[in-house]
Amino acid sequence: MADTDLSKVMKQEVGKEAANRVQSNSILGLGTGSTTAYAIQYIGERLQRGELQNIQGIPTSFQAEVLSKQYGIPLTTLDAIDHMDLAIDGADEVDPNKNLIKGGGAAHTREKVVDTLADQFIVVVDSGKLVDKLGSTFLLPVEVIPMAVTPVLRKLEKFGGKPELRMGVKKAGPVVTDQGNLVIDVKFDEIANPRELEKEINNIPGVLENGLFVGVTDVVLVGEVKGDQTNIREF
Ligand code: 5RP
Repeated sequence: MADTDLSKVMKQEVGKEAANRVQSNSILGLGTGSTTAYAIQYIGERLQRGELQNIQGIPTSFQAEVLSKQYGIPLTTLDAIDHMDLAIDGADEVDPNKNLIKGGGAAHTREKVVDTLADQFIVVVDSGKLVDKLGSTFLLPVEVIPMAVTPVLRKLEKFGGKPELRMGVKKAGPVVTDQGNLVIDVKFDEIANPRELEKEINNIPGVLENGLFVGVTDVVLVGEVKGDQTNIREF
């Protein structure tokens, strides 16, 4: 099998495993990204087959909302619920303490709101996302209100980061989030204390939210390739 096929199969398998953990009568946080998209698809298919009943989803992005509607998952809002049973979401990096960097899809602000509210938060990734130290392979996304971009860029440099405004692909100009804000991606040589850095960055005026998710994850489902086969591991 070609590498790209295997990577797709890993995402499908891990998405299916997460979808199989959903129980009837639940309120679900529905994450963003290519891996969670498969979880949303399989939850929808389980609903259509009658294996699941009475599911309500809270999407973490425009993408998740569109997919949920496409696969027939009834949606609700945070105003209408008093708890959330389970959230399923992807990640860009996962460290050995299950801390995450998220925001590759610029959806980390809504993702953090939803994922932290769930009684159980399951992260779905392929094994390439596992790192010893956060920040080693992925830049840290920071959502910023547009008028504050320049002072926030300067402040992030003072914190020792190398920040750059995220630019659109097939779109001239910067990426605009679902909330109408911009995203600064920051390279840190080392994120020694993710918990502290998460708070420090969020304390900069004009920052809405950053992509460090510390102490939030309950379960990580990892898709990995063994020879020509894919395997799902939990930690
Ligand atoms: C979006 C996210 C995604 O969950 C993260 O980027 C992982 O996406 P994928 O499953 O496509 O690799 O944080 O903001």
